[in-house]
Order: sequence, then C-alpha cells, then structure tokens
Amino acid sequence: MTAILAIDQGTSGTKAIVVDAEDGTIAIAEEPIRPTYLKGGGVEQNPQELLESVLNAGRRAVHEAARPIAAVALANQGETVLAWDPATGQPLSPAIVWQDRRAESICAELAEHSELIVGRTGLVLDPYFSAPKMAWLRRHLTQDGVVTTTDTWLVHHLTGQFVTDASTASRSLLLDLDHVAWDHELLHLFGLEDEKLPRIAACDEIVGTTRAFGPEVPVAGLIVDQQAALVAESCLDQGMAKCTYGTGAFLLANTGLHPVRSTAGLTTSVAWRTAGETPYCVDGQVYTVASAVRWLQDLGLVQSATDLDAAVAAEVNGALCVPAFAGLAAPWWAPEATASFTGITLSTRREHLVLAVLQGIAAQVAELGDRVAHDLNRPLTRLRADGGLTNSAALMQTQADIAQIPVDIYPHAHATPLGAAALARCALDPALSLEEAVGNWQPTTVYEPRWSAERAEEFRTTWAQAATASAAKGEHA
Ligand code: G3P
Repeated sequence: MTAILAIDQGTSGTKAIVVDAEDGTIAIAEEPIRPTYLKGGGVEQNPQELLESVLNAGRRAVHEAARPIAAVALANQGETVLAWDPATGQPLSPAIVWQDRRAESICAELAEHSELIVGRTGLVLDPYFSAPKMAWLRRHLTQDGVVTTTDTWLVHHLTGQFVTDASTASRSLLLDLDHVAWDHELLHLFGLEDEKLPRIAACDEIVGTTRAFGPEVPVAGLIVDQQAALVAESCLDQGMAKCTYGTGAFLLANTGLHPVRSTAGLTTSVAWRTAGETPYCVDGQVYTVASAVRWLQDLGLVQSATDLDAAVAAEVNGALCVPAFAGLAAPWWAPEATASFTGITLSTRREHLVLAVLQGIAAQVAELGDRVAHDLNRPLTRLRADGGLTNSAALMQTQADIAQIPVDIYPHAHATPLGAAALARCALDPALSLEEAVGNWQPTTVYEPRWSAERAEEFRTTWAQAATASAAKGEHA
C-alpha cells in the first residue's frame, strides 16, 4: 500500500506520522517547540529549530515505520512568517508567530482601507494574519531576502521550489479570495509591492521532490493545519464544522464553493483547492487554549496538560475568566485585549481558577459556534472536536454544557497530518476522491450537555459581558 509521511509543523511542536490507507498510522514522532514570548505581545520561534524539528520528526517516523514512503505532506501554522535568503535558504529573521500582536500598529495605519481589505480577502484587518506581520518585519527587522510564511521556507528546504498553497495564501490579507490570486492593490497598501511572492499551488498538487527523508519522493498535500483537520474530520460538504483544540482553538465550517463573506464577525478562507475546485470555509479563533494551559502550568496551578482534569474544580465558585492572553479574535477583533479574572474571593482555590480558564475557552468556542450558525443560516447541532486538549474530559464536558450541543471526539490524535496525508494521496492518484482518501471514522466519545439551557444561557450572558469589558479595556490601553 501507499505510505505517506505527513508532517504537521505546529506552534508548539512538529508531529510526523507515517500513515497507510490500509494499516492506519504506522509511526509517530514528535518534536516539541517552545515559542519565545516577548514583552509587548511579541511571539517568536527560531526558524532553524522549526526546520530541524521537521527533519528530525520526519526521519524518526520514517525510521520507525521501516517501510518505503510514497510522498511527503506538510501542514503549516498558517500565518507565521519569516525573512530568508532565497539563494542560501538561510533565515534572516526569527519566525514571527501568528499569535504575535506587534503588527497592530500596521493595522491601525491601514484602518481607513479596512473595508476594501476585508471585502477583497474575506479576513479582518488584524495582526493575526500574515501581511501585517510581513510589513512589520520589513519595517523593524530586515529589508533583505524574501518574506514568506513558514511553509514556503520549509518546502524550499525540502524541494528547492518557491511555493505556498491556496489555503495558506488565503490567510495573508494579500489574496483576492474570489480569484485565488495575489492582489496588487493589497500588496501596495501593505508596502509589499516589491516582494517576490511564491506561486500558489493546489493542495493536491505535487510541488516538487525531496530526498530529506530517504529515497527521492514527491512533496504534495500542502495546507494550513486547521483546514487539514477540517479534511480529516470529513467536513467535506457545505455546513459541516469542526473545532481543533491545540495551541489555540479554531472552529471552521465548510461553506461550499462560493466565497461567502461572514456577516457574523468571522473570517472566510480557502478550505482547500483540489481537483480544480475551491471550497471555502468560515472560521473563528480562540488564540490561547493549550497556551493558556501552559500559562497555568508555568504558574504551578497545573502539573501538565495531561493532568488538567485532576487540577480542575468540580463546581464553580464565582470565578470567571476571559482567557484573552494574546488578544481576542472573532467576533471581538481586539488584539490589545488582555486576559481577566473576576469574581475572585478568599474562598477561591487554584482549582476554581483552572475551571474558570476552561469555561472561558468553552464560552469563546460556543460564541463562535453561534456565529458560524448565523453564517450557515442554521444552528450547529453537533460539534466535531480534535486536538490534544480533547483528552481533557473536563474541557470537553464543559464545552458541551456551555454550547448546549453534543461534542463528538475525533478518534485519532493526529487529525491535522491525517488531513494532509489524504491530500497527498489524491495528488498521487487523481482518480481518488477526497472522501475516499479520508475514509470513514466514528467518534470515540460523545459528550452530551449536562447543564440546563437556562444555566448555560445565564453563564454565557455573564461571560459575554466580561469579554466585552476585556475587549474595551484593550481599546483604551
Ligand atoms: O492560525 C494558527 C493555527 O492554525 C495554529 O495551529 O495547531 O499550531 O495551534 P496550531
């Protein structure tokens, strides 16, 4: 059978799996990455560490699988950028991570063009996306080399090619969403008109070959990590939605072949481009999920992410948290917002603070679910969930309670690389449909809501007021 090496280069680590359509996941290797958090909202990674993590995790997985691979697929963080020398491949700047908020000043300068930018790209003028960070990097770090998202740099190291894929390009604020092409007016607005931009490839395209993991094989299946999980969770038809609980949480819903703009404060992106078709998706983001848990861990309130359920209170004690540790995304779009805890008294124990953080995450996702329902014109009746933090029964039960819908847990810990692998399989065999390449799956666990609708509504009203206050404080900071 055809084994694929699928690599998920994420914010907190790189995961490589070797997967076969018949035997499933044969080997897994992971390399952790710790971003550097700077004062003023900076979040950086060492590009060399990213590259080494891709090579090491990939080689370890191939070694463990002990069978030939037919292709390498790569999912990427989406909006993380760096400058690099196209002649040598050497990085010329740190990687500026999607969570980095320092490009807020660039967005503020462009505020008068917001309507044009939003209309053309389907996104929001926010430092989360690539172009403001590229412009900030050019202004503050270096004018040399090229400035691209990390996928282009990694693929250049693997294949020598200069490409990105349609889904990653759609996270930039530089893409004409309707035509899936770089937009000169937008490039000009961001001061990036002289930049050399990568070719935009389809997600089921063979973009080159690599010998980085053994004998020469094609590289295919390039996609943003969130969209890869959308593929893996079989959200292949209009109206299907999933949420990935990773470094952040990302709720995406397939909106079909028309790039419908969100009217609910979400963003619209390319879901993937395969077989000459481009489905789109709306998405909403919670910037800090595993990052928030890591913060709890750094403060000693939680031993580790796997120990979360042991550290959480069974019942609330009045403490409420808006976990806006890196600003608030959809629908508030308040990059300067900060996290807040309210309702704390002398009787508040650390387990109450942990529960408040989990409830804050779940409340944000529930809000995004409502917004998605608005854009889809029908309520979400279930939520498909994947990502490391779906291992926390406390978080998943809280999610079902607050969103008032059942949460279906995806059975594999590797939705993102599995989605990328399915795309690579389509590239190797164009007769294969994406549905066939993904295959069937059943949820391992289903969390049913236990709270009453009244209790959930009361909580969400109180929490929404706290979130609005956090967003407003950010505005006046
Ligand atoms: O938009 C950023 C997101 O795609 C990063 O995902 O898995 O690295 O948290 P992850």
